[in-house]
Amino acid sequence: MKTFIWSVPVRFFHWFLAIGFTAAYILSDFEKLLPWHMAFGAFVGCLLFFRILFGFFGPKYVRFSDFPMGFTNQLSFVKGFFSNPKAYAGHNPAASVVMLAIFIVGILASFSGFMLYSAEHPTFINPPMSEHDIEELHEIFANLFLVLVGLHLAGLLAEAIFHSKEGTIKSMFSGYKNLVCAFLLGLWFRFTKCSSGTRRNKQS
Ligand code: HEM
Ligand code: HEM
Repeated sequence: MKTFIWSVPVRFFHWFLAIGFTAAYILSDFEKLLPWHMAFGAFVGCLLFFRILFGFFGPKYVRFSDFPMGFTNQLSFVKGFFSNPKAYAGHNPAASVVMLAIFIVGILASFSGFMLYSAEHPTFINPPMSEHDIEELHEIFANLFLVLVGLHLAGLLAEAIFHSKEGTIKSMFSGYKNLVCAFLLGLWFRFTKCSSGTRRNKQS
């Protein structure tokens, strides 16, 4: 059965963020297009600011309190990834950590970009570091952001290969995940494990 997970604003946020980050990153290579780089970078910062507010006051699955991030969740996710996959309505434990890191690092990348601009031109903030240090910092956050996006895409690929029934990738287009199917698959794994255990017990 299909379960509605990602509302329209979350999907818009997601695709605007993906476009904004990709554009800001690519445009940073072209000096003449620096104003566009800054515009896309600032757009990313604004999107993430609102997404963080949404994480406290938004609907279910989007709230941080709904992210299964704790150590026990991580452990059971890793242990059961192949043998006993659990269906997660929102983000799975590993994805929750990557998503939160994207929110924080993305905000820092955008803010450090604004600081860099402020070191070169007078604005309402006075950066406490040298222009060179801010430039280094901005580059570090931007590249960390890129690494996190890489991890995100690798995670999605793993989901598509090993938990294809959930339809995780499709969910960011349609809003729906196939949860009962995934739940039944989990039950089936548990059942076959139990019954093989019982069979083993009977034999011994
Ligand atoms: C630069 C590229 C991308 C960035 C920065 C990005 C960022 C994010 C973020 C921040 C979230 C969390 C959404 C939230 O909780 O509000 C997310 C989730 C998600 N993204 Fe992306 N994304 C990118 C590319 C993609 C692509 C190319 C796809 C699909 C082909 C995709 C599919 C998804 C899906 C399915 C989820 C939900 C994952 C889950 O169920 O745990 N993303 N992404
Ligand atoms: C998440 C958003 C952003 C990303 C991913 C990003 C990424 C980058 C990257 C990769 C560079 C090249 C670093 C280097 O090679 O030295 C760069 C440079 C720069 N960025 Fe950003 N940036 C973002 C946001 C911003 C914002 C919001 C501003 C300003 C309002 C900004 C201003 C600058 C400036 C002034 C440079 C130096 C360009 C130069 O002198 O060559 N960035 N950015």
